[in-house]
Amino acid sequence: TDLIAEGRVAGRRVFIRADLNVPQDEAGRITEDTRIRASVPCIQQALDAGAAVMVTSHLGRPTEGEFKPEDSLAPVAERLAELLGRPVPLVAKWVDGVEVKPGEVVLLENCRLNKGEKKNSEELARKMAALCDIFVHDAFGTAHRAEGSTYGIAQYAPVACAGPLLAAEIDAINKALAEPARPLVAIVAGSKVSTKLSILKSLASKVDQLIVGGGIANTFLLAAGHPIGKSLAEPDLVEDAKAIIAMMSERGAAVPIPVDVVVADEFSALARANKVAADAVQPSDLILDIGPKTAAELAGIIARAGTVVWNGPVGVFEYDQFSGGTRTLAAAIAHSSAFSIAGGGDTLAAIAKYGIERDIGYISTGGGAFLEVLEGKTLPAFEILEKRAAG
Ligand code: 3PG
Repeated sequence: TDLIAEGRVAGRRVFIRADLNVPQDEAGRITEDTRIRASVPCIQQALDAGAAVMVTSHLGRPTEGEFKPEDSLAPVAERLAELLGRPVPLVAKWVDGVEVKPGEVVLLENCRLNKGEKKNSEELARKMAALCDIFVHDAFGTAHRAEGSTYGIAQYAPVACAGPLLAAEIDAINKALAEPARPLVAIVAGSKVSTKLSILKSLASKVDQLIVGGGIANTFLLAAGHPIGKSLAEPDLVEDAKAIIAMMSERGAAVPIPVDVVVADEFSALARANKVAADAVQPSDLILDIGPKTAAELAGIIARAGTVVWNGPVGVFEYDQFSGGTRTLAAAIAHSSAFSIAGGGDTLAAIAKYGIERDIGYISTGGGAFLEVLEGKTLPAFEILEKRAAG
């Protein structure tokens, strides 16, 4: 970004790796374009500075070398052209050469269609590096992957640097975790403890309060000796849940276990919801949300927070009868004066559903990448760019 700001890209060939991996419906229409909008500033800055701009991204997880129409970035090119207010031609075959003039931008077709992209083959990386004078990594959503267009090209391009989105994302997460206004509250929810175990453990050593929700809370309910009926849970991780509870209690904070829950006898849009006390869950019950007393208690914790990190809805918020917990917490975060940071696909969907985008301090474009930073990992994107910066 400094290179762009310093005007050192005029007339240069700039290769931007963005994350334009956006959800689409069956007809191929983009249903959510946050990542495209977040990628515009970097592209616009490079264009304004007079660079010849190439942009690429992956879309989904296609089979290398096997083009299928649904793998195409064509809808993304269209949306990008609207946002930039200029044509964005899509280049189908580009590894061996790209024609683009200074002040113009082209979109290079789904980079995961290239053989060697996923495995980061040196041959492909060197070819991509040869396309440009400057490589700009601006794909925070893909910063946890070491692929040809994210890592390999950064090794071999004449110059490699971070784009403004990549920089803003890591700054926001560092602001939330490294020097947080306290109390620092983390909400980690979602279906399984197993997929978030290391994040829970890492956060339990940093945060002042840890709130768990969704299927994760069911395993914590088991650990606290409550019945959970036929709810989703991972009994073999009860000991890990107990260890996390112990870590937090050493820090002087209890992990709040739901006192009431919303149950149904089936997982469906038409299921009838019942609010029950946590110790009154029946063998035939499925826990699909936290109850109103629990939600009010958690909202109180959020109201007193200095910083809130939010990943994961606490219930099946897609169905209205099980959305009360997530809605209450979303409102609490929106109304709180705390600096808040949120990330993950489901969390972004909840934020959009409740229309609180403007009330969140920072919304990350990362799913897996956001989680890995929360876990305390150094992502490959930052590792290679730091290595290049060190010379
Ligand atoms: C994401 O959607 O999390 C990123 O675009 C990374 O996609 P991937 O999990 O297919 O690498």
